[in-house]
Amino acid sequence: MQNTKTFPNDFLWGGAIAANQVEGGWNLDGKGLSVADIASYKPDVDNKDYAAHMDISTETIKAAIADKTDKWYPKRRGIDFYHRYKEDLALFSELGFKTLRLSIAWTRLFPTGEEEYPNEKGIAFYKEVFKEMKRLGIKPIVTLSHYEMPLALSLKYNGWVNRRVIDDFVRFATVCFEEFGEYVEYWLTFNEIDSIHRHPFTTAGIVPDKCTPGKEEQEIYQALHHQFVASALVTKVAHEKNSNNKVGCMLTKLMTYPLTCAPIDVELTLKKNLENNFYADVQVKGEYPKMIEATLKNKGITIEITAEERQILRENTVDFLSFSYYMSMAESGDPNAERTPGNTVLGVKNPYLPSTDWGWQIDPKGLKIALIELYDRYNVPLMIVENGMGSVDVVEDGAIHDPYRVEYFKEHFKQMKEAIDEGVDLIGYTSWAPIDLVSAGTSQMSKRYGFIYVDADDEGNGTYDRSKKDSFDWYQEVIATNGASL
Ligand code: BG6
Repeated sequence: MQNTKTFPNDFLWGGAIAANQVEGGWNLDGKGLSVADIASYKPDVDNKDYAAHMDISTETIKAAIADKTDKWYPKRRGIDFYHRYKEDLALFSELGFKTLRLSIAWTRLFPTGEEEYPNEKGIAFYKEVFKEMKRLGIKPIVTLSHYEMPLALSLKYNGWVNRRVIDDFVRFATVCFEEFGEYVEYWLTFNEIDSIHRHPFTTAGIVPDKCTPGKEEQEIYQALHHQFVASALVTKVAHEKNSNNKVGCMLTKLMTYPLTCAPIDVELTLKKNLENNFYADVQVKGEYPKMIEATLKNKGITIEITAEERQILRENTVDFLSFSYYMSMAESGDPNAERTPGNTVLGVKNPYLPSTDWGWQIDPKGLKIALIELYDRYNVPLMIVENGMGSVDVVEDGAIHDPYRVEYFKEHFKQMKEAIDEGVDLIGYTSWAPIDLVSAGTSQMSKRYGFIYVDADDEGNGTYDRSKKDSFDWYQEVIATNGASL
């Protein structure tokens, strides 16, 4: 019988990581260069200026390719999960994880993305990881594309702008279903598919200066459309290969509130939220929303969509919806309203919310609102696959006291429980990230998310030894009691 103090009996508690932020081994065993291997650490850039951190051009790519070291490219070294995965999985098991969300580096299997057959050493690595997870009783949730497409596809085709990349991705995904299908049931297609507008290179291999001048936005929408089609096609393959496969889309849930009840603030907010839901609309409902089509038309943007592609989208919708949630923002008609950064967005500052050191506004209630809104809108099971707080942690006599992290998670978990009690079908939660890793936005190690500390700094100095923060025991108890300890 379900205890009302606890989360549902089979609730999937766990954590989430991405290959490019943890593995390292960027040039080992036949791996090719990915777009993540080009991301440089920029010590002189303001932490809150995520756009400058993620800025990319043909020139910077050339310089990165010429540099064969990992000194300024922290994603090349990650946290050395490639060699230490057993130790890390043992710690996740000690935490009591039911699940671990992780991604497969496309370039470990297909170094340039265009090979006909996969690299056996890449397959062997992931098989070992999945075998170990199985031994420990940790179910994988696998993201097929988490900001790590082959650089070769970016350089040759300007990434997803070119329709032919769809075939390369379907070939890669099919190999994953065939090789890892015995271990994996839950699959996500594209991480934060909506982020293509905010960082087109990381998400879709698009180099802005290689776009047709004046057509940048149009080409980004076309690339997005190709990703939608690819996502639907691999959903189809996953279902054909094994009817137990469950495929989810993955959205950055950017919750926006009106700064005031002035009607203009409400209208602008409504539009922001509709735009944010658009990506899930296509993948869950199987068609482009009419309001979005009208908005694009008004902007002079025409996406080439064939009748066959519309059918593919309609017939291959996802089984569940997953999303990341870190912060919320406000919106205002006042152009002078104070702004603050969030997860690769700049929003209006909400006077009722505190912020992290990186300016992201902490809003547990927003998570409950997001859960209710998404479940009501889509009526499919939901999974929170990223949520957490980047902080500066200090080691004192070998210990890391992080009450701020416990506070952040505790308040979010309480809101999740309320949403479940009010009827939301939330089936799992994976924290970002259970272990410190390289930041996607700023390539810093010092922006720490984990319950497990990794002794490495922004320039790669350190032993890379793992140690438990105070929050480790706390999360372990939450999982052990299935939330009753909250
Ligand atoms: C999400 C990404 O947007 O945010 C992760 O999917 C990322 O890859 C996380 O790490 C937190 O962002 P950041 O920039 O603090 O690493």
